[in-house]
Amino acid sequence: MTILVKNNIHWVGQRDWEVQDFHGTEFKMTKGTSYNSYLIREQKTVLIDTVDHKFSHQFVQNLEMEIDLNSIDYIVINHAEEDHSGALTALMAKIPNTPIYCTENAIDSIVGHHHHPEWNFHVVRTGDTLDIGNGKQLIFVESPMLHWPDSMMTYLTGDAVLFSNDAFGQHYCDEHLFNDEVDQHELMEQCLRYYANILTPFSSLVVAKIKEVLSFNLPVDMIATSHGIVWRDNPTQIIHKYLEWASDYQEDRITIFYDSMSNNTRMMADAIAQGIHDVDPSVAVKVFNVSRHDKNEILSNIFRSKGILVGSSTMNNVMMPKIAGMLEEITGLRFKAKKAGAFGSFGWNGGAVDRIHTRLTDAGFDTTLGLKAKWRPDGKAMQVCREHGQQIAKQWALHDLTQVAPIFVNREAEVLVDAPQIQAAANDHPADCQCMICSVCNWIYDPAIGEPNQQVAAGTPWSAVPDDFLCPECHLGKEVFVELINKAV
Ligand code: FEO
Repeated sequence: MTILVKNNIHWVGQRDWEVQDFHGTEFKMTKGTSYNSYLIREQKTVLIDTVDHKFSHQFVQNLEMEIDLNSIDYIVINHAEEDHSGALTALMAKIPNTPIYCTENAIDSIVGHHHHPEWNFHVVRTGDTLDIGNGKQLIFVESPMLHWPDSMMTYLTGDAVLFSNDAFGQHYCDEHLFNDEVDQHELMEQCLRYYANILTPFSSLVVAKIKEVLSFNLPVDMIATSHGIVWRDNPTQIIHKYLEWASDYQEDRITIFYDSMSNNTRMMADAIAQGIHDVDPSVAVKVFNVSRHDKNEILSNIFRSKGILVGSSTMNNVMMPKIAGMLEEITGLRFKAKKAGAFGSFGWNGGAVDRIHTRLTDAGFDTTLGLKAKWRPDGKAMQVCREHGQQIAKQWALHDLTQVAPIFVNREAEVLVDAPQIQAAANDHPADCQCMICSVCNWIYDPAIGEPNQQVAAGTPWSAVPDDFLCPECHLGKEVFVELINKAV
């Protein structure tokens, strides 16, 4: 199947709806992908890139149905990774002398993968051109590390199409080829996932390369990527997005991720998250268990965050292995200008939190003090976690919080609780109300009702409620309850 891209340019690639893994199993594809190859038929016929090696036979067969393979004058390989040059062996078996235009680094990679040093390679560098007739030329632009040292882009004059290869692409499969034809939310979500998980380490190169390409003052009518859609509607929107993402990108978002042996570290994560929202209701807080959630989704959230909190139980005096793996990956992705902190539960030794703190610092994060809880956090420990979240929210705030937080008092624990949710609940109660509210889950104890399930009779004041009373919702003790009185009024 071919799809008309523009004038004499056709898409001759391969859709892959069912693929789930890329880079081994490190990148999970949730929306499939495509391997985009393009055929340009001017006075000269040019093939730009091929497809993944597992579709070699199908690719060559489709191409043979479209043209006589011997009519291909030039093959341009923008990138040697096997998802783009993978079908070369099958294709070159049919047309062994066809010139291959690529960077010097690509020869090393292509020969390394295909073991055919005798192929007719032509090395190109930035600014080199290839005349293809009808007044049109290909202009080559090296783009090392976007995504490998061998990567380059190819620009077609006249039609003003930039064949950008991995850059500006996304692992996304749709029967439609153009950006204006697909679900915009899905598209941008996959663009960000691709950038965050694959291109983040090369952000400084992204900015430099985009500025270099813009300095050529070439019109860009379409950006034809090697994965996903072709940008034809406002194609420079993705260039502007890349410039934004490459510049220490962050949103008002905090990502918390953890692994938990006995649910204790998870309890800490929940309380910290609630504490953050107590103080700053506008910040987005996302909580993930690395054992259960999609790793690439977590990394995308880290990419979007101003700060991260990393939790682990201590196991054999070190952190849990999946957290160690995540920290290794985060180190490789070289996130910039983000804050971080560690937390976790321990039994007899809290080594995990210290090790996470060190790893985060080494990875370039601006680290804050860690938080440890011994065994399962009790009510007081949960309150400490919640206060920790409140402190984090204040330290990492991107806007003025002085107008946000009313203050409530838990006289028993002598702690201050800043909680807009509690204020909202208090607004529905009279000024002389004797109710108490659980500062963790916001369940309300009303003396007029009592708590029949715990044999606390109606009419029992809070002071007479037994010390072993547990919140019926979150099962924490009396110490996490605060008066339902808005002290700000
Ligand atoms: Fe799509 Fe770097 O390969």
